[in-house]
Amino acid sequence: MSTTCNSQQILITGGAGYIGSHVAKQLLEQTDANITIIDNLSTGTKERIDALKAIANDPNRVDFIEADLENFDMIEGVFKAKNFEAVIHFAASIVVPESVENPLKYYMNNTVNTTNVIRLANKYGVGKMIFSSTAAVYGEPEEVPVQETTVTKPINPYGMSKLMSETVIQDAAFANENFKYVILRYFNVAGADMNGATKLEEINPRIGQSFPNATHLIKIAAETALGKRDKMYIFGDDFDTPDGTGIRDYIHVDDLADAHIEALNYLDENPSDIFNCGYGHGYSVKEVIDEMKRVSGVDFCVETGPRRAGDPAALISDNTKIKSSMAWRPKFDDLALICKSALEWERKI
Ligand code: UD1
Repeated sequence: MSTTCNSQQILITGGAGYIGSHVAKQLLEQTDANITIIDNLSTGTKERIDALKAIANDPNRVDFIEADLENFDMIEGVFKAKNFEAVIHFAASIVVPESVENPLKYYMNNTVNTTNVIRLANKYGVGKMIFSSTAAVYGEPEEVPVQETTVTKPINPYGMSKLMSETVIQDAAFANENFKYVILRYFNVAGADMNGATKLEEINPRIGQSFPNATHLIKIAAETALGKRDKMYIFGDDFDTPDGTGIRDYIHVDDLADAHIEALNYLDENPSDIFNCGYGHGYSVKEVIDEMKRVSGVDFCVETGPRRAGDPAALISDNTKIKSSMAWRPKFDDLALICKSALEWERKI
């Protein structure tokens, strides 16, 4: 393990994954922090670690440890060896239907492992934790847009495992004044590394979403546009929405990544808190598919099928709180940029 003096040391669990690697990238590009990534490579990839080392210019700024968080002694060794200022905790299982079939996997990987990360953070004096949570904690929300104060009522073990983790973090911080947290509840994360691009034709991602057997709409649409799938399905067109298809708040992964950097800064001066991360407006499944067809120039085959179990009609964040509390200003609130960056990444894998 290598360290560079005087720079912040930040631990990123799950940093070889989709969102974690984009946060690692922004930290490397926007700060002088050194990062340590712990990832079991179950869905994360070594290629992303290599890409991050290239982005860092100095490979010593990125330390990668292949390990599962369940391996407590090994993870403790990492905390002992480094003086982490903050931990950004992504490592988790995230597939909703799997969580219904195998709930214990979710309570172990998500809730128990988060508890262990907190134990170690407390034992080794780590002052800040940024936690990757989800709009799934709201279940089928009673109000849309969804505020942070909207009742949390998860409808699957995935959402519950994240809500329980949130509770552990809050209670631990209540008992330890030297431990502060920001919990970020993500809405629908999509797109890929903008790599400095501001226009559609400049987009050339270095990292992106590579989740096997993806279930996410924008990734599936990109795969279909590129002929990796023969066709795709709209899961229900009889919702109570203007065009009958489900509406979601799609947030570009680079904007979401920036929210983590702002959250670290926020904790320098402010108390622990919970924030929704979305743009505050949504698009329907049909609008997303039409946009993917437009940016790809491919009129791919789409069929309408039945609703998917547990899909609410609309899920949109109220992002007033994060915008008024932090210096977070989204740069890529544009469905074309989201779809095109996902498409260009999909071409590379
Ligand atoms: C996603 C995440 C969930 C997270 C939530 C937060 C997954 C699988 N889902 O849920 O973990 O908590 O965001 O808001 O990780 N659709 C189609 N056809 C497809 C795929 C999707 O019509 O082939 C529709 C869905 O019915 C839904 C919309 O597209 O209306 C978005 O679906 P998806 O991308 O899977 O995300 P969510 O289910 O909203």
